[in-house]
Parts: sequence; structure tokens; C-alpha cells
Amino acid sequence: TFNLAFTDGYVRVGPKGYFVRSGYRKEAAKIYNMSLRPDDIWVVTFPKSGTTWVQELVWMVANDFDYVKSSSIPLVDRFPFLEMSTIVNSDKAQAKMKELCGGNKKHMEIAEMLTKSVSLAEQLPSPRFIKTHLPLTLLPPSLLDTTKVVYVARDARDVAVSYFHHYKLMTFMGYYGDFKDYWASFVKGDVEDCPYFEHVKEFWEQRQHPNLLFLFYEDLLKDLPAGVRRVAQFLGKHPSEAQVTALSEYLTFDNFKKNKSVNFEVFKELGWSDKNMSFMRKGKAGDWRDYFDAEMAAQAQQWIDDNLRGTDLCFPEHDPK
Ligand code: A3P
Repeated sequence: TFNLAFTDGYVRVGPKGYFVRSGYRKEAAKIYNMSLRPDDIWVVTFPKSGTTWVQELVWMVANDFDYVKSSSIPLVDRFPFLEMSTIVNSDKAQAKMKELCGGNKKHMEIAEMLTKSVSLAEQLPSPRFIKTHLPLTLLPPSLLDTTKVVYVARDARDVAVSYFHHYKLMTFMGYYGDFKDYWASFVKGDVEDCPYFEHVKEFWEQRQHPNLLFLFYEDLLKDLPAGVRRVAQFLGKHPSEAQVTALSEYLTFDNFKKNKSVNFEVFKELGWSDKNMSFMRKGKAGDWRDYFDAEMAAQAQQWIDDNLRGTDLCFPEHDPK
């Protein structure tokens, strides 16, 4: 049911059996051995946990609130996605891309550029800003000892709902199942970058590391200025309260949705995403309640409890919608 139209399939890698694109095999060693720089700033997440939001927050704080640059250069160029090439770097993916690009030279150039994401990350000027969804154990072993990393976690059920829509949004993903099937795959770990809890726990276990800032999406929704202040402190910046307030306003969901530099509307122009859907979908906590029937909700709670047992990982409470 997954990605039949687009990829050569998935492989499970590493001791935790992470479910990654088969294209990852070509890039694994390059990623694991890539050279790190002490002024790198990484945002690492399980997909759909608020990555884009936190990338922009981090970039703005690190770049002294440079609104001119952030609006003139798309976030994907300022803060590239490390393993993009593992998605698009297969014969099948390239054929599909070619078809979608319909001979448009500029679009083909973008598609071609995406296949080189790991090498391009190596060549970025310092300070580098790097986004990845890869789990800690697949990243360079000295990551935390060398660079600064912001990790974001979000309620697994909201992540799954958001991810489900993402698979529908990106038409090239070729996913045609319903949410119930999707959730079953998610729990089994048959969705890209799963198993979800292993991903989160690997970083949670390192949360005391001085180079790691561990954030929750729900906390940012509740109090964004507090999140901005925490990021600033982590990056050694001292913004004024007026700067914190202005950035928090700039980062609200409604403003973000309209922000062409971050909202991925460009995928529509490229023909890669559904014209009637939006990457910036709802931006809420607890939206999952509309997608889980009573049986699914009970099973989900059990699955969450089983995965959190024996850990002190505790997701923030949030009010039902
Ligand atoms: P929903 O699909 O639940 O709306 P990622 O960037 O990791 O792919 O995460 C995307 C999710 O973050 C989407 O969730 C998106 O709407 C949400 N999001 C993006 N910008 C946001 C913002 N400014 N405020 C709140 N949520 C935001």
C-alpha cells in the first residue's frame, strides 16, 4: 500500500530496525561518517512533529531575527533536509519525477539537485543548519559532542494523523489507504522512520546533554514565547522581549500558513502535491480525536502506555479540542 508509485521500497536498518527508504543504503556511510562542525545547528525530529516550525524558530534566533533573509530565501535552502536524496535517489523515483516535471527544465533541475542532498550538506558554508528525520543511532556518532541539536517530539497520535495527510498531500507518495490502515502500519513500525517511540526515546535518553535541547510541540503551542526564550538561551543569544514577542507572532500557525518561504506551496507549482491540500494543515494538539474510534483510541492508549513503561518520558497534557 505504501509508495508503490514512487520508491523502490523500504529496508529496516540498525539494531532498532528503523524503516527507511531503500535509497538510504547508498547514503548510509556518507551520512554516518560526514564531517561535523562545532557551529552546526541541527533540528532532528520524527516526521510531522513540528520540524518546519522549529527550523524557522531556530534559524531566526540564530540569525538575529533576519526577517529580510528569511523571506527572500526559502527555508529548504537555508536549512536543507539531509536525507532528501534517500527519497528521490532511485530509478523509480527519478522516472516518476521526470513524469511529474513534464519536461519542465527548471523542475528537472530541482529534482536533480535533491538527489545530491548529502553531498550538498557537506559543502554548505558555516554555520550550517541541517534538518534530519534520521534517528540518533543512524547519525554521526559524535553529533551531540560536536554540534548543537534541537529535537522536537509530538503526541504519536497527532503525528500519525499529520503523517497520513502528508502521504496524501504528496501525490507522488502513492498512498491510497485509509487512516485505520495507516495507523495499523504506524504501530507496526511500517511507516518511514518508525519505530516512533524508539526514535523519541533515543534522544530523550540524551536530554541532559548540554548540546541537546529537547522540545515538545504541545509546549510550543501552549507558550511559544517561552519556547523562543529556551532556544535563545540554548544558542547563547539574548533577545529583547520585543524580539521574542515579534518572532512568536511571526511563527503563529496563521502567519506561517501564509508564509511562502516555509509553507511548501511551491510543491503545488512543481506538481508534486495535491492542489486541494496544505502542508500547513491544522497546527493543533488533539486533532487525532477526530480520526480514532473508541476501539482505536483504547488500543492507542495501551500502545503508548506499553512504550512509555519504565521510562520517565512524559508528554505534556493538552486540553481536548
Ligand atoms: P498538522 O498536520 O497536524 O497540522 P513537520 O514540519 O514536522 O512536517 O510538521 C508539520 C506539522 O506541524 C503539521 O501538523 C503542521 O500544520 C504543523 N505546523 C507547522 N507550522 C506550525 C505552526 N506555526 N504552528 C503550529 N503547528 C504548525
